[in-house]
Amino acid sequence: MSEKIYIFDSTLRDGEQTPGARLNKEEKLKIAKQLAKLNVDIIECGFPVSSPGEFKAVQAIAKEVKGPVIAGLARAVQGDIDACWEAIKEAERPRIHVFLASSPIHMQYKLRKDPETLLYMGVEAVKYAKRYTHDVQYSLEDATRSELDYMCRVIEAVIKAGATVINLPDTVGYAVPEQYGEMIRKIMNRVPNIDKAIVSVHCHNDLGLAVINSLTAIQNGARQVECNINGIGERAGNAALEEIAVAMLIRKDYFQDFHHDLNTREIYKTSRLVSSLMGIPIPINKAVIGVNAFTHSSGIHQDGILKNMQTYEIINAELIGGKAGQMSLTARSGRHAVRHELQKMGYTLDDNEFEAFYARFLDLADRKKDVHPEDLEALMADSLAYTVPTFSLEYLQTVGGSKSIPAAVVKLKKEDQVFIQTETGTGPIDAAYNAINKITGIQPRLEKYNLRGVTEGRDALGEASVVLEYQGRTIVGRGTSTDIIEASVRAYLNGINKLLALRTNGNGTAGTN
Ligand code: KIV
Ligand code: ZN
Repeated sequence: MSEKIYIFDSTLRDGEQTPGARLNKEEKLKIAKQLAKLNVDIIECGFPVSSPGEFKAVQAIAKEVKGPVIAGLARAVQGDIDACWEAIKEAERPRIHVFLASSPIHMQYKLRKDPETLLYMGVEAVKYAKRYTHDVQYSLEDATRSELDYMCRVIEAVIKAGATVINLPDTVGYAVPEQYGEMIRKIMNRVPNIDKAIVSVHCHNDLGLAVINSLTAIQNGARQVECNINGIGERAGNAALEEIAVAMLIRKDYFQDFHHDLNTREIYKTSRLVSSLMGIPIPINKAVIGVNAFTHSSGIHQDGILKNMQTYEIINAELIGGKAGQMSLTARSGRHAVRHELQKMGYTLDDNEFEAFYARFLDLADRKKDVHPEDLEALMADSLAYTVPTFSLEYLQTVGGSKSIPAAVVKLKKEDQVFIQTETGTGPIDAAYNAINKITGIQPRLEKYNLRGVTEGRDALGEASVVLEYQGRTIVGRGTSTDIIEASVRAYLNGINKLLALRTNGNGTAGTN
């Protein structure tokens, strides 16, 4: 019988540490609910002690998301463990995830403590966490640059103290598959009480080896794999969940001894949701979920595909839910058709939400002949992004061009008040941003600006995302329109609305590694 591999998703913790990818509570909750539909086994949803906003987001997920184990991260100190427990205690199945470095370089330079003191700290932390819950995961940070004998001693001691999962992260993405596999195998053979815990791996992608290292670890004894949607994460990211999941299925001849319980038909939707809410575009050639993954360009390939799909395609798009909404809609599509398409894509809206969405759909359909599933996804992400509206865009007019002074007239509405502002700038977008700053009274720093076409053709929907920094907080704003200036303005205004909401709610996040 094949053995189960537990899928531990850290998109909302390590994934959220991707530079600029900050989420608010509502966005985190949306993603966590979608991860539950994907049927991941464990959702690591944050590092509760890091900020009040992070704490509240983890708490909301613990209360509302049913099914998966809900894990929170904590350093090996009581304050972190207390905060973690406070945030996750209402989960159906809470897990405290304690981490402490074990490599000489981290112990000496980062923690400035000797190995024996740290071993003691690790054991005490596990004992302390055990007072709250039986499910305690212990990570030996930077395991792949640690000494094997020392790791074996730490692992034996923390399992004795009650750790139920032992994670051996490749924190800096340094491992190569065979060595990593050998490390796992040696630990499995040497640690006398290892059978009392599940061995887990967590691979970073600095050398582009995170997925293969994770798969090799499975073959050498690991039974939990930590991975993130779209491979996002600190620096070059973490192992991509969708790649591990699909590799295990497509090559089940090779991975026949193992299985996972993911509902892979939710992969496409989860991937798009994470990309839109975090403002991190999916590379077109990304394995499994990039738009080119199922596109055939060469004439010889197209001919082969028409004769037999399997000539050039090993993954059926339906496996990842990629064909969820292939029908395109037009301005004549009624409410029923639009609602039906949304439902096929997994979105169920209440009447008010649907009416707001439908108005934006009609607006788009008027400008664009065919509205494709990707457009609906982008519009939906845009609508989700407006969960905390303060100012809404009523009117926008801009002037640009090589011989004119770039200017913008912006009209915003806030409840019953209407504000109109005219400004100039280095270009029409800059001018509109200046006008928005004047109206809203805040002036964030634009750290990043990104624009992509959601579909192809001259009437393609443009999706803009911006990373804004204001008073030490960084957020992502996004907006869509067939007009790229309007998309850029919507993205900026979305960011400003979020910053205003943060100011009111004290919501904001920070991460570890
Ligand atoms: O990369 C790492 O070591 C981590 C730990 C906190 C598990 O993210
Ligand atoms: Zn990590």
